[in-house]
Amino acid sequence: MKTKVAMLSENAVDKRIINDAALKIRDGGIVAFPTETVYGLGADALNEKAVAKIFEAKGRPQDNPLIIHVADFNIDEYVTEVPDMAKDIMQKFWPGPITIILNKKEIVPSITSAGLDTIGIRMPQNNIARELIKASGVPIAAPSANISGRPSPTDMESCVEDLDGKVDYIIGGENSIVGVESTIVDCTVNPICVLRPGAVTLEMLQTVDSNAYIDPAILSKPKEDFRPKAPGMKYRHYAPKAPVKIVSGEIDKVVAKISEMVLNYNEQDKKVGVIATDETKDLYKNQIVVSLGSRENLNDIGKNLFKVLRSFDSMDVNIILCEAFEEVGVGTAIMNRLKKSAGFDILEV
Ligand code: TXA
Ligand code: MG
Repeated sequence: MKTKVAMLSENAVDKRIINDAALKIRDGGIVAFPTETVYGLGADALNEKAVAKIFEAKGRPQDNPLIIHVADFNIDEYVTEVPDMAKDIMQKFWPGPITIILNKKEIVPSITSAGLDTIGIRMPQNNIARELIKASGVPIAAPSANISGRPSPTDMESCVEDLDGKVDYIIGGENSIVGVESTIVDCTVNPICVLRPGAVTLEMLQTVDSNAYIDPAILSKPKEDFRPKAPGMKYRHYAPKAPVKIVSGEIDKVVAKISEMVLNYNEQDKKVGVIATDETKDLYKNQIVVSLGSRENLNDIGKNLFKVLRSFDSMDVNIILCEAFEEVGVGTAIMNRLKKSAGFDILEV
């Protein structure tokens, strides 16, 4: 398949390209596009054949449901009921990086929800994404635009790397400003329950429902009978080719431990990549040290995370050692993705 690639600017969206891509969506094609969280790979959420193409292009397991993206606050066509709590969330945080889970109507085909009676819905903040949805005139089902298992793409180049030749269109825009996928919150239950942490934090959701909590199944190392309510959370994910190990504790001790580990690996002729921060990067003697940004700005760390994880694939390292972050605010989402990329290999010092 020949993939069309076009770069747009969020502030002056080129309507001709949007209409061209929207036509593809209406015709049952698949289109990658930017959102503020990560890039998505979209299809008409109500067209089974089109949605099937997404699963095929990504190599995505069939039991992993998709999120549908809308540009209108009226979602009555797709869900049986919008509880007050969900309305509050939509009003406070839409458009933005949060997906709500509600009971779906028949019109949403079961391939989109992977057989579940519920559906995830989100209104992205990114202008290109919203223009594309509006021009298509249908809700757009879109998982992250990566090959399944790889870190999600936060720029156009990463989409091209994973999907060129496999999709109809790749629309580029500015790099994703959030960098980790949307928060997912189950609004079919009371209290509401976070199924995937993201930039809309638990603390923020507790302003809507003071009893909101995070699904305990996703916080620790998966057990044999691990069944998180968001099916996608059970898969190995966000993983660069080399194994990742996280080192957690007071920052001086972490730097000392990672430095010691680097020496040990080097003695075994292993090439090590270190994921550090602006505050620590100069303290390592290792040749390959990449900073995620300043510890003072966790939003920046989130924004850079997947790009940095991906960058190691072209650096030919045998192992990646990474500093941990405090699990507060967006730090919870960052650590959730890091732990998954490391297969929960964490050393406490
Ligand atoms: O930020 C995002 O949400 C991005 C952008 C493109 O919008 N999309 C995204 O989609 O991250 P994806 O497919 O990579 O992740 C969707 C997650 C999966 O873990 C899936 O299991 C969960 O959402 N999910 C979808 N529908 C669900 C449902 N009805 N119940 C529980 N979990 C659901
Ligand atoms: Mg994904």
